[in-house]
Amino acid sequence: ARHFLTTEDLSGDAIGEILDTAESFISVGEREIKKVPLLRGKTIVNLFFEASTRTRTTFEIAGKRLSADIININTSVSATQKGESLLDTVRNLEAMHTDLFVIRHPLSGAADLIARSVPHHVHVVNAGDGRHAHPTQGLLDMFTIRRYKGDFRRLTVAIVGDVLHSRVARSQIHALTALGTKEVRVVGPRSLLPAAVGTLGVRAHTDMATGLSGADVIIMLRLQFERMSGALIPSAREYFDLYGLTRERLALADKDAIVMHPGPMNRGLEIASDVADGPQSVILPQVTNGIAVRMAILARLAGASAGEGRAS
Ligand code: CP
Repeated sequence: ARHFLTTEDLSGDAIGEILDTAESFISVGEREIKKVPLLRGKTIVNLFFEASTRTRTTFEIAGKRLSADIININTSVSATQKGESLLDTVRNLEAMHTDLFVIRHPLSGAADLIARSVPHHVHVVNAGDGRHAHPTQGLLDMFTIRRYKGDFRRLTVAIVGDVLHSRVARSQIHALTALGTKEVRVVGPRSLLPAAVGTLGVRAHTDMATGLSGADVIIMLRLQFERMSGALIPSAREYFDLYGLTRERLALADKDAIVMHPGPMNRGLEIASDVADGPQSVILPQVTNGIAVRMAILARLAGASAGEGRAS
């Protein structure tokens, strides 16, 4: 494929190949990812119209480890502030010989719109569009689950919180399903679960006790206030009382369960600090894994396959 816009059209095998390529970039000591020349001479533009700490920075590191030239556009001081359209902005950056755009935008479908407008030799990676998709986050989460828990066909995964507004959850659900996960649950207040949850092939729970029972993987989501338009939610305190992940609630899951969160996290709202920082948390390894997985995705678009990028 020319672009990487969603996990919806990926097979389990295709995801496995990307995860294998990501593994090949991690050196034996795990502490460093060596620089490889796969994208030497290529120009990557990070075009973020929404705030980001993890995605933007790990894409920048990933691009640099692949020897690409990587440019971060600060959209708050770009000419979009003077009324230039999204497509005109992209056309002008493309005129500077950009090979690949990494796009984050508050509107669902923005990355797809750009992908359809760029010439054939230019690639687009979706770094999060509205509430639609965040496919690189979805795959770094699959990489993390595979590393800690192994075979998806034996796993029960609970995705907890504001699933309705979460592009991350949608990308995770498609990937977990493609990988043959034994059971995928969404857990949260009815008002924050998608109405058509059945069509996603997951089970809905409004009660944490049943939702977390025996789970191998717990993925916590933040309340995405910026995408809510009148959704009925409890107060922050009530929310934590009903749906916050505390040590007591974590004990309902499998004793070896891992706790994940894509970030940014709101301590004391969806997750207690002692759980976020506790021995079952893999929240920071998720961030680290983002580098190798994003390298794999960038390399895949440039035509490299597993093994070619092996660090030496
Ligand atoms: N998980 C995630 O997308 O984080 P950022 O918003 O910091 O990129």
